[in-house]
Amino acid sequence: MFFKKPKFELEVFFLNQKKTLVFYKSTNLLKLLIKHKIPINYSCDGNATCGTCKVEVLSSLDKLKPRNSLEKELANDREFKSNERLACQIQAHDRLKIKIQND
Ligand code: FES
Repeated sequence: MFFKKPKFELEVFFLNQKKTLVFYKSTNLLKLLIKHKIPINYSCDGNATCGTCKVEVLSSLDKLKPRNSLEKELANDREFKSNERLACQIQAHDRLKIKIQND
């Protein structure tokens, strides 16, 4: 019997562009962006210490898990808004919409 894999789509806004990324299983957001060659900084290789992978979540924020202790500490230090998250610390999911600040 053949089961069709679920298809997930994520919209990303960056450098005045918009792209829809298609993926088939829940995955780390930073890894997904890198895989699709979306320009994003990540100076600490996903260790939640640099803050350069910060993204703005435009929709489906409620579907993300709350910040873990590492992300919470960095977000508090840098006064992140509630919809600003570290791409290296969250899972991409269907219908997530994000914006990358590339400046
Ligand atoms: S890559 Fe450094 S905080 Fe995410």
